[in-house]
Amino acid sequence: MESRPSLILCNVQLPEGRVVDLSIRKGVVVHAGSSGASEVRIDCAGMFVLPAAVDMHVHMRGGLQSGKEDWTTGSRSALGGGVTVVVDQPNTIPPIDSPGALRDRVRDAQEHSLCHFAINSSVTADIPFDEMGRAGAMAFGETFYAPSSYGEALGRDALSLALERIHAVDGLATIHAEEISTGPDLDLALHDERRSVDGEVRAVKEVQNLNGSHCRLHLCHLSSARSIDAASGSVEVTPHHLFLSRDQFRKDDPRGKVNPPLRSEKHRRELLSRWDGIDVIASDHAPHTIAEKGEDFSDAPSGIPGVETMVPLLLGKVLDGTLSLPSVIEKTSSTPARLLGIPPAGFAVGDRGDFALYQKKAVRIRADMLHSKCGWTSYENHPAVFPEMVILGGEVVYHEGEFPRGKPSWFPGKGFVPGS
Ligand code: DOR
Repeated sequence: MESRPSLILCNVQLPEGRVVDLSIRKGVVVHAGSSGASEVRIDCAGMFVLPAAVDMHVHMRGGLQSGKEDWTTGSRSALGGGVTVVVDQPNTIPPIDSPGALRDRVRDAQEHSLCHFAINSSVTADIPFDEMGRAGAMAFGETFYAPSSYGEALGRDALSLALERIHAVDGLATIHAEEISTGPDLDLALHDERRSVDGEVRAVKEVQNLNGSHCRLHLCHLSSARSIDAASGSVEVTPHHLFLSRDQFRKDDPRGKVNPPLRSEKHRRELLSRWDGIDVIASDHAPHTIAEKGEDFSDAPSGIPGVETMVPLLLGKVLDGTLSLPSVIEKTSSTPARLLGIPPAGFAVGDRGDFALYQKKAVRIRADMLHSKCGWTSYENHPAVFPEMVILGGEVVYHEGEFPRGKPSWFPGKGFVPGS
């Protein structure tokens, strides 16, 4: 006889409106309908119940950058925002540019992460692409077409060759497409000018032109409607480009400094109007310390923390009628899982049993509510809906400020060969 479900989420309203009880056993959904007995039952009447999010673009730092963030604080921040899977970017110090570095990173995350995780491989001219795939790299990149914080740009020839090699191992190339012009970098408007919308559009087209081998491309953090129109791979957009413009900050406030830059209010609105053309929302969670962000604009590092505020900001827009709930679920959970080839979280039998439960009530964001080590946010006072409870594999891993330890997994890429 089958054992009882370990958890039943009762009175869950599905996106199409039907109300069901969801039974979860051994980490997966085993029944959606009426329910029987279980060890734990949670009443979800009146709540938003979302398949937990997959944030396919985070910088969890650690190592020499542990003053900014580490796996414990970064994964708490993820769970506190309804994210149960993070895909870590390889521009760590040291970078993830060898199978050994990848394995060390996986070990660190296995010891300290409270959420599921995957790790991407760096892309340089001499990366052993095949070995990185076998060691379990999820995807390749972000591949820097222009330099950014802790990322060196690849030249055209090296990029073209890298795309060929990634294609040869059937990998996904994730691309940071920007172009940089010379000139002073003294405030947000000049930063926007140096890394312009026109330059981003040209970079997107150029990377696609260099992709003669038709490698699968994922275009990270596109910051303008025109870049989306130019893109032929999957398109990722961040909450900061959707909800923040440089006009909302003091003109030389480093808390608004990020690559690609925050744009004008006009560009931000145009980007939001392309919502239906966006495949994935990812945070590009890039924590830096308050001290670093207190430096002069030109010296301060680029990056905005955001893994914990991503879904809450989007749900704020669902509550006020700007966005639909199914579209938020698709862009934060189903599509990233599909692109990465990891089991989807969801309401169907067999889906990964990861959920986030939200009361339908917006609050104003304050830095002291959040769990990232960096201790600041660019979204002070923005309305957002935070989860009350988060479930990972059928176990409660976040509830009202507490983080009971669950059983997070490493999701290696599809080229992984165990023991290699
Ligand atoms: O602003 C950014 N910060 N953009 C990136 O591409 C990298 C990131 C970081 O790692 O801080």
